[in-house]
Amino acid sequence: MTTRNYVIDEMISAKAIAARVEALAKEISNHYAGTDKLVVVGLLRGSFIFIADLVRELDLPVEVDFLEVSSYGNSTESSREVRILKDLRGEIEGRDVLVVEDIVDTGYTLKHVLEILATRHPKRIEVCALLDKPSRRETSVKARWIGFEIPDKFVVGYGVDYAQRNRNLDHIGAVRFTD
Ligand code: IMP
Repeated sequence: MTTRNYVIDEMISAKAIAARVEALAKEISNHYAGTDKLVVVGLLRGSFIFIADLVRELDLPVEVDFLEVSSYGNSTESSREVRILKDLRGEIEGRDVLVVEDIVDTGYTLKHVLEILATRHPKRIEVCALLDKPSRRETSVKARWIGFEIPDKFVVGYGVDYAQRNRNLDHIGAVRFTD
């Protein structure tokens, strides 16, 4: 894949992310207090750093599992279906499920993931997304917990990539093309 020339402008610092993750974890821990059946499901690959930081701040017994779905790329088909590339290892029937997503953009990925998981009859599914781009939404899906609302910019870092690069940045930056 050819990529364009770009620079990265810091949008959310590592410090700000850490503070927000701690606050989210407190809210989530309070919400699930008393439950011993929580499965935290990270959507690969973009959520891997967020979920690692989030679960370490949770004051709850949790199981961690991962799901990877195909991205539909720049497809303009109205369906924008996704396929499972890597399925969960565990059963979620009757369990509380917290889906951890990096970015809710149009919302199609999350919509389809929630539909797939719902067929397995979990007790309840909630969503925690690090970033939300509400101005881009084309579906009615909502994350119960959101780290940061951001404008319609392409971002990288803290697990999020551009052409598989920059996932290892400790902060969130906006990509600015220079060519
Ligand atoms: P949606 O289905 O349009 O909501 O897209 C969600 C997925 O697209 C996210 O999980 C990301 O993997 C990817 N995505 C959306 N916006 C960005 C971005 O700004 N940078 C990198 N990936 C993005």
